[in-house]
Parts: sequence; structure tokens; C-alpha cells
Amino acid sequence: MRGWIEIDTAKVLSYVDSRQFTENQKRIPELHQQLHSKTGLGNDFLGWLDLPASITPNAISILEDLAQDFRSSSSSFVHLGIGGSYLGARSAIEFYQTYQPAISNPLIIHFAGIDLSPASIYNLFKYLDDKDICLNVISKSGSTLETSVAFDLCLQYMKKRYISQDLKKRIIITTDPCQGALLQFAQESGFRTLPINTDIGGRYSVLTAVGLFPMAVMGLPIHSLIKGATQAQHDLSNVTNSANTYALLRQSLPVKQFMIEAFATFEPSLRYFTEWWKQLFGESLGKDYKGLFPVDIHYSTDLHAHGQYLQEGRRILLETFLTIDSLPKHLSAIRQSGKSTSLSMLNEQAMKATMAAHSEGGLPCLSLSMKDTSLFALGYLYYFMMKACAMSGYLSGVNPFNQPGVEKYKAYMRQQTQTRKRISSVQ
Ligand code: PA5
Repeated sequence: MRGWIEIDTAKVLSYVDSRQFTENQKRIPELHQQLHSKTGLGNDFLGWLDLPASITPNAISILEDLAQDFRSSSSSFVHLGIGGSYLGARSAIEFYQTYQPAISNPLIIHFAGIDLSPASIYNLFKYLDDKDICLNVISKSGSTLETSVAFDLCLQYMKKRYISQDLKKRIIITTDPCQGALLQFAQESGFRTLPINTDIGGRYSVLTAVGLFPMAVMGLPIHSLIKGATQAQHDLSNVTNSANTYALLRQSLPVKQFMIEAFATFEPSLRYFTEWWKQLFGESLGKDYKGLFPVDIHYSTDLHAHGQYLQEGRRILLETFLTIDSLPKHLSAIRQSGKSTSLSMLNEQAMKATMAAHSEGGLPCLSLSMKDTSLFALGYLYYFMMKACAMSGYLSGVNPFNQPGVEKYKAYMRQQTQTRKRISSVQ
């Protein structure tokens, strides 16, 4: 019987550095044990590891009831959050909506606070002017610049339209339950809050209220996603598992040659999943001058862009394909006029042809396939990737749960803001 994620290593094995591979293979049992006994690097951020099985039906009902509140009062749902505070929700919502186009959800979701462009926020407000709005602001630290700026602007905007009693029904704040500016603001102004588990970092938080609440607002049956992740938690708890195999292979390529992992899909429904993957692997593993640089590739569009480079450019990439084995019947039945080939078959042939061509051209190609388009399968995939990412970090000797590097630009930002303040106070 096939598993929820199948891994095909045939086109990558000949590229691995055999000494590194054997050494990594020997270390996996000990590292797996460190992860599960919470004695390894970053062990205070391992709350995601046992989370799926611990989510109770009551916790799901609370989120669903709150979500229903939002749905019954609004036609537009503004989601504020960046990085791990938005990519999980967005990836699941886009995936689900692709296969459930007829879902009777009157809400339209707007992701804001993901850049500092004045045009984004101006156009959003213009659009929202004649709509009823609900808003969820998500920030674990409570101080992320993009989120804070967008929340400040949205609050000012909503205050012009709603009385304070109404605002309290229309805004929910998701943040650290013990500290931070957002929590303080919520407590002072009486807004409702949802907690982000203290021992779970942003990019590992898709199965907390960070991801689950926005999904529930958009009508996703979140219990299915949780069930899939719980299955993965169970299946991947043994040391011999496909997530560890994925980690082993990506960490055993000769480091001087292979510097990039191109993560390729043939389904636009996975576009934001690949964004989520990119953020998870990039922020977790790019440390101590180590790590494969994660890039997402969207076929078949990118066959007409990166395709040439992948075929004949520098041999510095591992290409990992993520495919979906079985599409819903109504989609796999779409046929080209006058021909017997279905579009899904054509897409699959394009995937096989691309993999064969790139592999022949000298690229290591790894293939991951998920079983179907259910939320169960997606939940499984999230957990699989978090586990593979954690093991990749442990194999390369970095802490996969911190992000010290992102502080550097923030320090420069603060410096510039101070300089601007000083100049304007002199003027
Ligand atoms: O994974 C992470 O920790 C980051 O990507 C954060 O999610 C992102 O920086 C947003 O942080 P916050 O939730 O504190 O606003």
C-alpha cells in the first residue's frame, strides 16, 4: 500500500558523497533520539513535534466558533502577518480553494502586512470601502515592522468605520500569550486574543491558531488537516522514515558543488506551499555559512524560464519535485478536444519528461509525491517537511529553530529610523 508521501531516490543516489552519506546515516538514530527526547539544539522550540495528536476536538470547536462569528459579520477578511505568521494559512487556503471552487464561502481573504508598499495598503482600503470587514493580526513577537505598520493603518481605517464595541467583534489578535507589545495592546484595549504556543517558532506554527484560525474562517475543515498531521506524527516517529531519508540525501551531496535546492511543482495549487517550504528551509538552515539555498520553481511556466538553466547551466542544483498522485475525478477527466489524453495525464507526462531530461543533463533529481488533494494529505505534508527540516539542521550541526541572521537588517532599520528622527527634530 502506498504511503501518504512517497520518495523516489533513484535519480539522486549516484551524486551523493559516499563518505558523507555513510557518516550521516550512522548519526541519524542518535539525532532522531535527540529530537524526540528534546535534548538537541533548539530544544525549547519543539512544541510542534507532538502537537498534532494533542489538539482536542474542543480546541477545534473554539476556533470554528470564533471563525463562524467572523464569517457571519463580514464579506472581507483582512489577514495581517508575515513569514511564518502567514505562509501556512495562505498555502492551505490556496490549495483547498483550487479543488473546492464551489465552496459556499462569501468571504474574500486579503493578505496584508507582507510588504511596506504604500500602494498595497492604499489599494486594499479602496477595495474595502464598501465591504464589511473582519481582521486577524498575527505576530508572535508582537513587534514585527511590516505587521505593526499594517495593523496601525488598518486600525485607524477601521476606527473611522466602526464604533469601538463593533471593533472588538471584528478584530482578533493572535500573539504570544505571555509577553509582547501586541498582547499588551490587546489587554489594554479589550480585543480578543488567540495564543501562539510559546515553544513553537513562526515557521513551525501552521498547526497552531496561527494557521488554523484563518483556515477555519475561510471554511476549511481543519480537523482533516490535523488528522493528516497526526498520521504523519505517528508514521514518522520511527527512525526509519521518509522525512529522515529526504534530510539524509539533501545533506549528503558534495557541499562544494551543490549549493541550491530547486523545489519544483507542476500544480499551481502548491504555489504557496512552495513559498512556505522556502521560508521553512531558508530560515531554519541557512546558518554558519551552511545550507542549500532554497528556490521554488513553478512548472510548466518555468520550463520557459529556468528550464534552460536547469538543463544546461552550472551543475550546482539539487532539483526536488513535488507531485500529486491523484486529482479529483472531475479534474482528471478533462480531455483535450478530439484526443483521448486527459490534461492531468499531459501534466504528468510533462513532469516525467522534465525529470528525465534534467537527470540526463546531470542534475540530481529527487521526487516526492503526495497521495491526493485532500487536506489530510496536506496536513501530512506539513508535518513531513517540518520533520525533514529539523533533521537536516541537526545533520548539518545548526539550530533549525532560531533565526539570528534576520536581526542584522533590523538593526540597520532602527539606526536609519533614529537618524531620520534626529534630522526632523533639528529641522
Ligand atoms: O519563522 C519565524 O520565526 C519568522 O518567519 C516569523 O514567523 C516572522 O518573522 C514573523 O514574526 P512574528 O510572528 O513575530 O511577527
